[in-house]
Amino acid sequence: MSALQSVQHIKDNYQTFTRRDEVFSFLKPDVHPAIDTRHNVLLYVEGVNKSFDGFQAINDLNLYIREGELRCIIGPNGAGKTTMMDIITGKTKPDTGEVWLGSNINLLKMNEAQIANAGIGRKFQKPTVIECLTVWQNLELSMSGVRSVWGTFTAQMSGEQRDKLESVLELIHLKDEATNSAGNLSHGQKQWLEIGMLLMQNPKLLLVDEPVAGMTHQEMDRTSELLNSLAGKHSVVVVEHDMDFVRSIASHVTVLHQGHVLAEGTMDQVQSHPEVKQVYLGE
Ligand SMILES: Nc1ncnc2c1ncn2[C@@H]1O[C@H](COP(=O)(O)OP(=O)(O)OP(=O)(O)O)[C@@H](O)[C@H]1O
Ligand SMILES: [Mg+2]
Repeated sequence: MSALQSVQHIKDNYQTFTRRDEVFSFLKPDVHPAIDTRHNVLLYVEGVNKSFDGFQAINDLNLYIREGELRCIIGPNGAGKTTMMDIITGKTKPDTGEVWLGSNINLLKMNEAQIANAGIGRKFQKPTVIECLTVWQNLELSMSGVRSVWGTFTAQMSGEQRDKLESVLELIHLKDEATNSAGNLSHGQKQWLEIGMLLMQNPKLLLVDEPVAGMTHQEMDRTSELLNSLAGKHSVVVVEHDMDFVRSIASHVTVLHQGHVLAEGTMDQVQSHPEVKQVYLGE
């Protein structure tokens, strides 16, 4: 690489680095308030309504997620799935209703950063890994407690932090890629890395929107394995259109339609539900 190319390379990477339009999660303070889950419920969404210019996107929505539960949310386009996640993460404020983390943390009184710090991690569809850094560095940067990019490269990790990072690397099947730059990963691997980056912050609840879009079958199987392995330790809410994938991961499925819960149960139960068949499966 010529000197000029090197400069261009650094410049491109710098732009990638600064183009992100959200606050880096590792720059936020690492304060996880104590969450009261004595009732075994981690997330309460109750009587939530949200209209956009008169259009009722969320309509009296009630949703309860238990601790350690893996829940799939399905529903036709425009059902309100993403809006629901926007409301839980504070990106959108509902017109009415309640959203609580455990029975003691009122999420509607908090902003997006505070909600993230309270232990809710969100994965968007497009991976936002930092391509010019290695897989290891991406994970290191997202670790709770590491506050600055500079700190990451100068401070020594504790043995405990290193163990955590290695266990996440193993979980996301990227151990062999640790020293490779994230930009060289496949689409599926980038998605796993991003899930790994969220896991480094020990979230109580992970919201994952359409994780397998654009993945190969093999990548989908691995993603299903990964999400299943998170259940128990974290509550995970997955929005997904791919029914085979949903069947492969979910014990419990919620069907959203016109901003409201139409049916809830096992995949077999919801698929045989007459209204679901009518409005969602087009039967
Ligand atoms: N900021 C907004 N302004 C206006 N309308 C919005 C806004 N956000 C969402 N909507 C509308 O609310 C409805 C629900 O959208 P949402 O994106 O939540 O659906 P979804 O279930 O995620 O759909 P998809 O499966 O296509 O991702 C849609 O009709 C959408 O056009
Ligand atoms: Mg959506």
